[in-house]
Amino acid sequence: MQYFKFLKTLCFIAVASSMVVVVFGDITCNVCQSNHAKCVNETHFSLCLDGVPPDQVMPCPDDQICTSTAKFCMPRGSVAPSCISDADVECPSCDGSSLFVCTSRTTFQMCNGDTLSSQITKCKDNTYCAISQSNFCVDRCEALSSATGFQCDREAPLTG
Ligand SMILES: *[C@@H]1O[C@H](CO)[C@@H](O)[C@H](O)[C@H]1NC(C)=O
Repeated sequence: MQYFKFLKTLCFIAVASSMVVVVFGDITCNVCQSNHAKCVNETHFSLCLDGVPPDQVMPCPDDQICTSTAKFCMPRGSVAPSCISDADVECPSCDGSSLFVCTSRTTFQMCNGDTLSSQITKCKDNTYCAISQSNFCVDRCEALSSATGFQCDREAPLTG
């Protein structure tokens, strides 16, 4: 019993700290930083300067990511990106052998061979997608218990 409580606490701490990371990642997308750039996703940014239209998006050079440093773009891995958008997150794809794949933290879709069907199924409230043999949606702690975290760490499925 004591041990179980201990595990629950550990899981809570792990989940709480991973939520901080998620929130942090979200709020720095599309926010003007002190370097006068705002990252629209992991690799693209626009400038926050009076003389430049704010909707003009520029790409970072190959293998560089948008950051809050004075140079805007830095080599991937050298610093954390300011913004990670849903499109930057890798999710399982239909590989011909899976029948369902998670397409966001809380949704899954059926595979037709190696094509993803368009019908999106939502997990019940407070459950998260983790396709396994016995269950498709599990509670947050269970979903995060694997070393790799959420099977598809997106807010919402990508459309189109
Ligand atoms: C990032 O945003 C740019 C501009 O909107 C877009 O062209 C690019 O495909 C995006 N990158 C990803 C990984 O979605």
